[in-house]
Amino acid sequence: TSLAGFPRPERHFTPKSNWINDPNGLFFDGLNYHLYFQHNPHGIDHGNMSWGHALSTDLVHWGEQPIAIMHDEAADIFSGSIVVDESNTSGLGDGINAPVVALYTAAATDESNQAQALAYSLDGGTTFTKYQGNPVLDRGSKNFRDPKVFRYGSGESACWVMVTVEAEERKVLIYQSTNLIDWEFASEFGPQAAVDGVWECPDLFPLQVENSDKVRWILLVSLNPGGVAGGSGTQYFIGDFNGATFTPQSRKEQWHSEIFSQIGQDNWLDWGRDFYAGVTFFGLPEERKTLIAWMSNWDYARELPHRGWRGSMSTARQLSLIETEQGLQVRQQFLGTSLENPQAFSFTDAETEIDIAGPTLLNASIVNNAAGPIRLGLRRNDGSLISEVTISQQWLLHRREAGITKHELYPSVQRMPLPVSTDDSLQLQILLDHGSIEILAANGLRSLTDQLVGEAVPSYLSISCASGSTIDITLFEASESEKDL
Ligand code: FRU
Repeated sequence: TSLAGFPRPERHFTPKSNWINDPNGLFFDGLNYHLYFQHNPHGIDHGNMSWGHALSTDLVHWGEQPIAIMHDEAADIFSGSIVVDESNTSGLGDGINAPVVALYTAAATDESNQAQALAYSLDGGTTFTKYQGNPVLDRGSKNFRDPKVFRYGSGESACWVMVTVEAEERKVLIYQSTNLIDWEFASEFGPQAAVDGVWECPDLFPLQVENSDKVRWILLVSLNPGGVAGGSGTQYFIGDFNGATFTPQSRKEQWHSEIFSQIGQDNWLDWGRDFYAGVTFFGLPEERKTLIAWMSNWDYARELPHRGWRGSMSTARQLSLIETEQGLQVRQQFLGTSLENPQAFSFTDAETEIDIAGPTLLNASIVNNAAGPIRLGLRRNDGSLISEVTISQQWLLHRREAGITKHELYPSVQRMPLPVSTDDSLQLQILLDHGSIEILAANGLRSLTDQLVGEAVPSYLSISCASGSTIDITLFEASESEKDL
């Protein structure tokens, strides 16, 4: 259902009502994807933080469930993660069901302390009981948060690993445990690379380098402010992990990223304004590493106009690791996008328009040998501009108009450098839903995500492509069955 002038996204999770921010506790139980999220059950602003809950079988359509972990007088339930404790290492099981264990930050309501706490579920993640011995990890810090837990190793030597942050110190802290309850400090990482804001919501996981036996570990660190597009952003490090210590890749391997750094470009998971606190699912095989992020930015998240609900999640993306001419890079692919009713277009030297009927995936292949850039204007029915994507040989820009938003930081231009390529065509995917644009460029090696607050999917695209360039576009609609939901 959509409210006039403020349509609800069809392909992204939004809450029925009230505020949301970070995705939490993502896990797959073999049948359902579970998405928990930072939620204020009583209001449209950040506060009374609790874990909301939603279920999906396709990562596109989500059914909201009752609140999973409710805040109490003493503490808000800040971000964290979930693991399924199959072999009952925690002893919290009932002998029938494997305990589903949530590690979250208990953030004292008087802001005096942040510590890691545990809650467990014996009904597959529907209802949770807070552990009596909470907190399970307390350093007497005011900014110690966002535990992400995973299983490391196999057999006898397997253990649980937790990555957390000392947010103000720009440090990732790593702990180990055999039972999810007693945690021992293992190592710390940082400050490194982008440090102009607090470090939040870390994640650490292995990815096999495509077409090779090599495995590398990816450390994600969200930071706010200091993101590449201003405000909240997510950087990543590539390296090794031995169960205790994360070591970023060698100087030689980093050579290309260093060149990047010299011109002020670290490794960013996304170059847009609205892709924050992204974390991956527990319970999926490594080759299906799947991430969801909060599609907003602390620069303005609290002040955006709304119609009873505020905030949405990004499209789920699958992550892989690719050897490129500029070293190893993370690739993203949209998940759950159906490829229904393709419509193909091809332009050379043209000023054209293409109608858009609803949520749409656009695949484009661009050969740009022209002096000028290619422009895609996202336009409303009356011809007015919602935003514009400009593609030159080295850059992709997204310029967003203010629309109905009055916040001074909202209208903006995002710049994304395109990778150097021996192939002279650029592959582009653009996912349009009500309220957002998500762009994957260079086969997913670059990502740019922006909200388009209060905007319906554009009525049409205006395309201008100067002499010497060609653009082949295929549009895919959301399928009929999906539209019915
Ligand atoms: C990130 C964050 C986390 C914290 C949560 C509180 O957006 O600030 O560090 O746990 O939001 O809602």
